[in-house]
Amino acid sequence: MSLQKFLSSLDELLDDAKQSLDEVGSSEQLENLRVRFVGAKNGAIKAVQKLMGAIESEHRPVAGKRFNEVRDAIQSALDLATERLGGASKAVKDPQMDPTLPGLRPQLGQLHPITQTIEHLKDIMGRLGFSVTEGPEIEDTWHNFVALNIPEDHPARDPLDNFYLAAASKQLQNPTDRDAMLLRSQTSTVQIRVMETQSLPLRIISLGRVYRPDAPDATHFPMFHQMEGLWVDKNVSMAQLKSVLRLFATSYLGSDVKVRFRPSFFPFTEPSVEVDYWWNGNWIEFGGAGMVDPNVFQALNIDPEQWSGFAFGLGVERLCMRRFGIVDIRDLYRSDVRFLRQFAS
Ligand code: PHE
Repeated sequence: MSLQKFLSSLDELLDDAKQSLDEVGSSEQLENLRVRFVGAKNGAIKAVQKLMGAIESEHRPVAGKRFNEVRDAIQSALDLATERLGGASKAVKDPQMDPTLPGLRPQLGQLHPITQTIEHLKDIMGRLGFSVTEGPEIEDTWHNFVALNIPEDHPARDPLDNFYLAAASKQLQNPTDRDAMLLRSQTSTVQIRVMETQSLPLRIISLGRVYRPDAPDATHFPMFHQMEGLWVDKNVSMAQLKSVLRLFATSYLGSDVKVRFRPSFFPFTEPSVEVDYWWNGNWIEFGGAGMVDPNVFQALNIDPEQWSGFAFGLGVERLCMRRFGIVDIRDLYRSDVRFLRQFAS
């Protein structure tokens, strides 16, 4: 094919396109023209482009340049006509698109009920003057037992009741090893950590996970959360302990809640109590509490003649379940969003 002939067919194509696009009156017609001129399969531009292969190679640069100009000019004419007819022809053509329909609501995440409970507890205790501290979940036996006055032969240290870590076989033979590490079985470890590092007086809570090898059932799970509280000052009394736990209970469960303290025993508190709340027709045990044992103070070089304190540890899952009406602790940890979504914050 001669260069001349190629160029004149390009000119004809451009004239044709310009004229048709100038006159186009509806989006349907415009769409037809678009297919006719720039359609990817059988469009006129595509057809002319194919002719280029038949042009002598010395003329190809000229032919190619003109081809590009014409192609761009047709595209601009198309864009202009599209604009003149009020936007993209596709949208107007597609009857399924209804811009007046309400949008799709995006699925938003939310806080897990336990996280919501933790935030709530921090808020209540914050108003009672307790600041929040954290401690590690992997602990040594010093913080989990020794400093808490739990003697070496105490059943609480039994390997069957704890998740000892690393060199497990060695520790199973000798669970009293002072260097043994374990997943903490109680947040009371944080009592020791704050008394080691902070100056007195202090008033803290610490919320976090604890681990015990319990078989899961409706009320047990091998991992759960506790809220530990510790108040150390001059002349802190059992009366204050009871007031704080009463105030906490009424703030969290409502003013009709009843609180009962039963005598109990913990190696790190003396005297010790168990705390029950009367709620919805039942006494429910929520945790333990007591006055910090002098042995604990002594292990930390704190003079028990000068300082006194109380400590408590409450089960966060129980508090959460009571409030949200959840009856099986395992439901909290199945990660079933259909269940969890019910407890929107
Ligand atoms: N750490 C005890 C437990 O896990 C609870 C407790 C905390 C008791 C503080 C007394 C004082 O059972």
